[in-house]
Amino acid sequence: MTLTRLRRVPTVPTSVLNARAGLYLGPQEFFCPCPRGLEALLAEELSGLGAASVEPVPGGVHFVADWRGCYRVNLWSRLATRVLWRVAHCPYRNEDDIYAMARNLPWHEWFSVEQTIRVYVTAIRSPLKSLEFLALRTKDAVCDGFRAALGKRPSVDTANPDMRIHLFVDDRSAMLYLDTSGEPLYKRGLKRARVEAPLKENLAAGILMLAGWKPEEPLFDPMCGSGTFLLEAAQIALDIAPGLGRNFGFERFRRFDQPLWRLMVSDARAVKRESVFQISGADLDPVEADRGRRNLQYASLDGRIRVVQADILNVNAPAESGVMVTNPPYGVRLGEQKSLDLLYPKLGDALKQRFAGWRCYFFSGDENLPKLIGLKATKRTPLYNGALECRLYEYRVVAGKLAKRRAAEADAPPK
Ligand SMILES: C[S@@+](CC[C@H](N)C(=O)[O-])C[C@H]1O[C@@H](n2cnc3c(N)ncnc32)[C@H](O)[C@@H]1O
Repeated sequence: MTLTRLRRVPTVPTSVLNARAGLYLGPQEFFCPCPRGLEALLAEELSGLGAASVEPVPGGVHFVADWRGCYRVNLWSRLATRVLWRVAHCPYRNEDDIYAMARNLPWHEWFSVEQTIRVYVTAIRSPLKSLEFLALRTKDAVCDGFRAALGKRPSVDTANPDMRIHLFVDDRSAMLYLDTSGEPLYKRGLKRARVEAPLKENLAAGILMLAGWKPEEPLFDPMCGSGTFLLEAAQIALDIAPGLGRNFGFERFRRFDQPLWRLMVSDARAVKRESVFQISGADLDPVEADRGRRNLQYASLDGRIRVVQADILNVNAPAESGVMVTNPPYGVRLGEQKSLDLLYPKLGDALKQRFAGWRCYFFSGDENLPKLIGLKATKRTPLYNGALECRLYEYRVVAGKLAKRRAAEADAPPK
């Protein structure tokens, strides 16, 4: 790198000027990434949490809020993956423009030099060749800024950084964010027993919302594994803030308003409501069923949610009508394609026999499911599980011929 490049005077973006002018306590710009397909629901959720200028874009939602609003979204959002504070944005042509943008920010006013950092880069249609180099230049800019202000620089920790800095670049503009969440928000701090292919909690909450499930309706997950749907549903029913069991990145910010945060947490604890709900689960694998039970126990919900060991093909419906939400094993990830191709054709019949009157939702990336199940999906909602394109299939189950005959036989007086 040449010195001339380093000395180039950058243009300072407006949001940088805002942060410098001490407007830290006024309205700030934020971005919440979320699983793709949940943007509209997240926008609704954020508006409900008091966010302003809410604008959904593919992969997340922009909004404006003050710090209280930022804390509130971290504590209460069931759908956001993170809450990122936008500290700068600028048009760019090369890495030097991005270096200049990052170099000009008062990082030392936001966090201590003793805290470790990591820079994450996400690029869409960027002409720049190496994202690693971009991350390196941004990290250098942060460290150079600290060195100029304090004479020392923060260390990098790629595994467990105190401060996460996110750079988003598209074809012409770059946006720099400081992560106010820390660990992603789908880590609710509720699960002890983990699985190989877990469903992220915010995706599970979004699926429950897309299914239109209401706490008054019975909910059943017949392939519950570690119990993600069950735990999310119970938290919704009890109005438990999803962030009550964890810590957040903003707690390490220099201007962290601890008294305000304590008040918000104690308010959230106070609103937990007592409600009656009927949520239950099952899993064929006794180890998985046990895992689900242990997670419910850890969340003090074991007395209220029952998990049985059973096959979806012959488990009985826990109520006359209700909502079934589940994500079957996915062949690509768990290497079980063959057994699934045998399972699906029997599933349609099993549902017709035992779950007539239920709305059933299957979340899967397996294209064979809708082909083989033998039921007509009433809705298919595209949703992404990370990079994996999936669908949420809705089946409104009515009793089939076989099921009706059996029901009639069962009702008939003994001869
Ligand atoms: C993708 S995992 C579900 C993960 C779950 N949503 C979670 O949060 O951990 C699929 C689950 O289906 C279970 N399973 C597979 N075949 C089944 C069957 N015939 N009946 C019931 N459960 C089954 C597996 O044991 C596994 O736990």
